[in-house]
Amino acid sequence: MNHLMAVILAAGEGKRMRSKNSKVVHKACGKTLIEWVCQAVESAGVDHSVLVVGHRADQVKECMGDKVKYAFQTEQLGTGHAVMQAEEYLKDKDGYVIVLCGDTPLITAETVSNTIEYHKSNNNSATVITADLDDPTGYGRIVRDVNGNVLKIVEHRDTNDQEKNIKEINSGMYCFNIRDLLEALKALNNNNSQGEYYLTDTLEILINKGLKVGAIKVKDSNEILGINNRAQLAEAADILKKRILNRHMMAGVTIIDPGSTYIDEEVQIGIDSVIYPGTVLEGRTTIGEDCIIGPNARLVESRVGNGVEITNSVVLESSVDDDTHVGPFAYIRPGSKIGKQVKIGDFVEIKKSVIGDKTKVSHLTYIGDAEVGKNVNLGCGVVVVNYDGSKKHKTVVGDNAFVGCNVNLVSPVVVGDNAYIAAGSTITEEVPENSLAIARERQVIKQDWVIKKGIQKKK
Ligand code: UD1
Ligand code: CA
Repeated sequence: MNHLMAVILAAGEGKRMRSKNSKVVHKACGKTLIEWVCQAVESAGVDHSVLVVGHRADQVKECMGDKVKYAFQTEQLGTGHAVMQAEEYLKDKDGYVIVLCGDTPLITAETVSNTIEYHKSNNNSATVITADLDDPTGYGRIVRDVNGNVLKIVEHRDTNDQEKNIKEINSGMYCFNIRDLLEALKALNNNNSQGEYYLTDTLEILINKGLKVGAIKVKDSNEILGINNRAQLAEAADILKKRILNRHMMAGVTIIDPGSTYIDEEVQIGIDSVIYPGTVLEGRTTIGEDCIIGPNARLVESRVGNGVEITNSVVLESSVDDDTHVGPFAYIRPGSKIGKQVKIGDFVEIKKSVIGDKTKVSHLTYIGDAEVGKNVNLGCGVVVVNYDGSKKHKTVVGDNAFVGCNVNLVSPVVVGDNAYIAAGSTITEEVPENSLAIARERQVIKQDWVIKKGIQKKK
C-alpha cells in the first residue's frame, strides 16, 4: 500500500519568541501555529502526521492530543536529525512523506497537494518547495545547474559569494519517497559550520545516487513565511485574517471595515449579514443570515440566529435566537439562552439564564441563574439577587409577568405567570400568578416639613 505521511518539525526552542511557551502553540486567528500546519496537511489527504517534539513537548501534545503521532528529539542536532527521530513511523511504509516545520502556518492544503502531484508526476525522489525572495538572507539557497536541475541546497552561512546572490530559497518543506529518504538520512553527517545534521543535505545524497530531485516554486511567497518572533506572528495573523475575511465576503457577508474586524477560522456567518467595525468573532461562533453585528461587538463560542442585531456588546458561550436585539453595552455571560424577538438593552448583564421569546430587558438590569418566561417585561434596574454570600440560587419568572423598575428578586424565588410586581419591591417570597406584589414601605407625607424646620431656600 502507498502511504502518504507527514513529518512536522517542532522540537526547536524558538528563542526569538521570548516566551515561556512552545513557539508552535502561539495562536494566530484563534488557532495555534501547529494546528494551522496540521490542518493544511490533513486537508491535503495525509494518512498520518508525526510531530517531532522536544522543547515544551508537553504543550504541543496537549494542543494536538491523539490526532497525531509523536517522535521525541531529546537534543536538537539539526533538521535531518529531527526527521531521523520519526523513523519508527516510516520504516515499514511505502509511499510518500511531506516534511514541513511547525512554525509555518500560512502553508495551504492546495500547495501541499500540488507538491505531491508534482512529485509523483515527475517520478521524483525528493521535491522541495521553494520561493523567490527579494531578500533571501538567512534562508538556504537552491543551487541549480545550467539546465536548471537542482544540485543541492546551501545554508546561508555556508554560501560562497556567488551562492549568496541566489534569490531562490528553500522553504524547509519537502515531499520525499519514504524509502529514499530513510536511506539518505543514514548517509548524513554534521560536517558543516553549525555541526548539525542538515535535512537539506539529503537532496545532494539522492542526486549522487542518480535519483531525481525537483523543486516547485510557490506563487505567493507568504505561504512559506516562518514565525520566529512576535512581529512575524502578527504579520502571519494579518495574512490569515485577510484570507478568512475574504472567504466570508466572497460567501455573501458584508464587512464594513476589514482592517478593524477579527474573525477566527472556525466562525460561520450567513449571507447578507453585515459586520461593523471593531468586531471580534472568536472560537466556533456561528451567526445566521441578515444579522447586524457591531460596531464593537465581541462574540466568543456563541450561536446567533437570523436577523439578530448585536451592537457594542459582549456575548460569551451563549445563544441568541432569531430577530433579537442586543445592546448597546450589554454583557451576556456563559450559559445564557436568549429567545426570539427579545430586547436586551443597555447596561444589562445576563449570566447563565434563559430569557423567553419576546421578553424585554431594556436597561440597567442584572439577571443571574434565572429562567425568565416569554413576553416578560423587566423594568429598568431590576436585579436578580442570586448570591447569598456562599451559594448561588435560581429564580423563575413566569410568562407575561411585569416586573417594575428597581425590583430585587431575592433568589430562590418564583414569580407566577401574568403576575405584576410594583416598582421598588424587594421580593423574597413566591408571587402567585395573576397577582400584584408590593413589597416596600408605604409613602409618608409630612406637610410643610421644610417650612416648619426653617430650612427653605431664600429666592
Ligand atoms: C531551515 C533550512 C533552510 C531553510 C529554512 C526555511 C536546514 C538545514 N535548513 O533552516 O534551508 O531555508 O529552514 O525556514 O534544514 N528543528 C527541530 N529539531 C532540530 C532543528 C530544527 O525540530 O534539531 C525544527 C525547528 O523547531 C523548526 C524547523 O525544524 O521548526 C526549522 O529549524 P530551524 O533551525 O529554524 O532551521 P533554519 O535554520 O531556519
Ligand atoms: Ca527557521
